[in-house]
Amino acid sequence: MKAVIPVAGVGTRLRPHTYTQPKVLLNVAGKPILGHIIDKLVENSIKDILLIVGHLGEMIKNYVESSYPDVRFEFIEQKEPLGLGHAIYLAGEAFKDEDEILIILGDTIFDFDISKFLKSKFTTIGVKAVEDPRRFGVVILDGDKFASRLIEKPSEPESNLAIVGIYLIKNPKLLKEALDEVVKGEIKTRGEYQLTDALQLMVNKGEKITVFEIDGWYDCGKPETLLETNKFLLQKNSASLIKFGKFENVLLIPPVYISPTSKIENSIIGPYTTVSDDVEISSSIIRNSIIGDGAKIQNALLDSSIVGSGVVLRGDYKRVNIGDSSEIEFY
Ligand code: UTP
Repeated sequence: MKAVIPVAGVGTRLRPHTYTQPKVLLNVAGKPILGHIIDKLVENSIKDILLIVGHLGEMIKNYVESSYPDVRFEFIEQKEPLGLGHAIYLAGEAFKDEDEILIILGDTIFDFDISKFLKSKFTTIGVKAVEDPRRFGVVILDGDKFASRLIEKPSEPESNLAIVGIYLIKNPKLLKEALDEVVKGEIKTRGEYQLTDALQLMVNKGEKITVFEIDGWYDCGKPETLLETNKFLLQKNSASLIKFGKFENVLLIPPVYISPTSKIENSIIGPYTTVSDDVEISSSIIRNSIIGDGAKIQNALLDSSIVGSGVVLRGDYKRVNIGDSSEIEFY
């Protein structure tokens, strides 16, 4: 089976990191987001992957080709990020003759048994019941099995089944036709060509689309969700992630990921902290954070922070001379 992963987006919500690094290569729990996704596909014997690249696409190509020599990659370029529907539309020629395809968003990590999802007889959309579905695409079911309507970011949602970013398409040719209709017919929702609108056209043309409830999905699209995903993955794999770098007087509070090429002294690291390659940390306390490659951090107190590659960060200590019974708080 072929997997299609759109990774051409600009990642505005993760600026400034995404000015210089594609979102999907940001490190969570010791590995780029895209690495977590590809590992899951390979575990399920999917080794034929089509990536739709755009913003900083060369970096993505270099990463996947050097990290996964046994996977067959194809690349299609989306020059302008006109929406998820447009990205998949550009890949239409490359997937239209497949029996089935799996579409997975490049910034979402899934933790569930994909093999069950792949066994579905029908086109299937991964969904999750959420409290506020207005920022998602939603599926409205006709009865309890098949989708009757799919609506992108509804202002008054008639369903709480949010589309979470994984799709099994059993009729790729029909999807291509629907996407052609969306793009050539200039059908835009909220200014973008939407995959959700193409799926609705497939339903209109008689495609039976069912849903699969997924609890384990972890968005990486915003700083808060990237840190939450980092926390979740570290918690899940805590035993295997502590690799020893050069440490002197260091207290690690698990779970953490520490690259073996990092140097840390006189510091407390963790919980929920990823320290990438070649990082140097001294006299600092860091928790719930992601530290990028080659960063140098000194005298810093960091919480819920994302530090890019090559950053030099120097904090300082406060000097006080305070009398008895004073009450001081530093924010
Ligand atoms: P998002 O809309 O979440 O990603 O798309 P984005 O556009 O990069 O981020 P923001 O909204 O500006 O912060 C979900 C997935 O679809 C891809 C993205 O790369 C991401 O993996 N995508 C989105 C495309 O490939 N092309 C597009 O035109 C839009």
